[in-house]
Amino acid sequence: MKIRYKEPADKRINAKRSFWKEYLIVLGVVLISCVGSVLIYDRQMQDHANPWQIVVTNSSYVLFVGLIVSLVIRLISHTGFIRPMSEIGKAARKVASGDFTVRVHSQRKDDKKDELEVLIDDFNKMVEELATIETLKSDFIANVSHEIKTPLAIIQSYASALRKDELSLEEKQNYIETILEASQKLSTLVTNVLRLNKLESQEIIQLESYTLDEQLRCCILALEEKFNEKNIELDVDLDEVIISSDESLLEIVWNNLLTNAIKFTDYGGSIKVELKVEDSNIVVSISDNGCGMSEETSRHIFDRFFQGDTSHSVEGNGLGLSLVKRVVDLIHGEIQVKSELGKGTSFLVKLSK
Ligand SMILES: Nc1ncnc2c1ncn2[C@@H]1O[C@H](COP(=O)(O)OP(=O)(O)O)[C@@H](O)[C@H]1O
Ligand SMILES: [Mg+2]
Repeated sequence: MKIRYKEPADKRINAKRSFWKEYLIVLGVVLISCVGSVLIYDRQMQDHANPWQIVVTNSSYVLFVGLIVSLVIRLISHTGFIRPMSEIGKAARKVASGDFTVRVHSQRKDDKKDELEVLIDDFNKMVEELATIETLKSDFIANVSHEIKTPLAIIQSYASALRKDELSLEEKQNYIETILEASQKLSTLVTNVLRLNKLESQEIIQLESYTLDEQLRCCILALEEKFNEKNIELDVDLDEVIISSDESLLEIVWNNLLTNAIKFTDYGGSIKVELKVEDSNIVVSISDNGCGMSEETSRHIFDRFFQGDTSHSVEGNGLGLSLVKRVVDLIHGEIQVKSELGKGTSFLVKLSK
């Protein structure tokens, strides 16, 4: 059995070509040419024209009428179809050569929309979207290049400084430490860019059942040294929860949220990690009493390479929360942030059971 799918009519179209209008134009042309031929025939009868004259005159008349009809059809199709199509074609060629500023103007004098006007609207919208993608791509490349340049410059200058003989052992040690830090930063940047790139094109996740509280505990434990370095008080309250999700993807989320909480909390501060089951949701919250952020900053935290607090920008590269957001979207979860400048921040991740 064949199932036919009928596209629903486009609601934007409010001007249709009227059948009766076209019929009346054709009828008018036919009537005028018939009247013309009757008048010519009548004249020929009155003048007693010979048969050759009748044939030549009538043939010329038919040719003339044919020419007029063709010109009218040509004019109608030119204004209604050929001109807008060639405009769209010209614009498409410009887009293909990389010019995304081009737009096709409306071809109708009234404000109505027919199929062609809708096509023009859609074409313009497509070019707008392409322009945004292009800007995002070039911004991304510019950001990556900038982020690579800084640690590379550090590595270069400290490595050449190391060649000097008069350096003390302590100075040499410091320089080597700086080089190692810069190369670690470079390596994290490359890992994050590759990860983000992979996640952008990933649509399928590996579902497996595992204990979420155990995973959170392991992530906290792996960061124990950092917690101790800043003497951070840790409050952990985890319900026992078995989840069916992608373990390695969720690890990215917890690691990034925990390292941010540590990074943006002052020495002696406190961090709370909670895992609760609410109705049909699993809710993980990671809260700190650190520097917090302004409303403006919290609007941009998921943008790639965005770093709100410049005093901490030496560490990280503003890709952490972009990765977190991508993972949460991929597993159809939800992430919320509540923050107050100077008071602290709380990230809430909701996952469906
Ligand atoms: N716990 C937090 N407290 C305050 N600000 C935060 C916190 N987590 C994230 N932010 C803000 O969000 C920005 C982006 O975070 P992220 O993408 O992890 O980048 P990075 O950690 O490299 O700066 C940070 O620069 C910071 O301004
Ligand atoms: Mg971070």
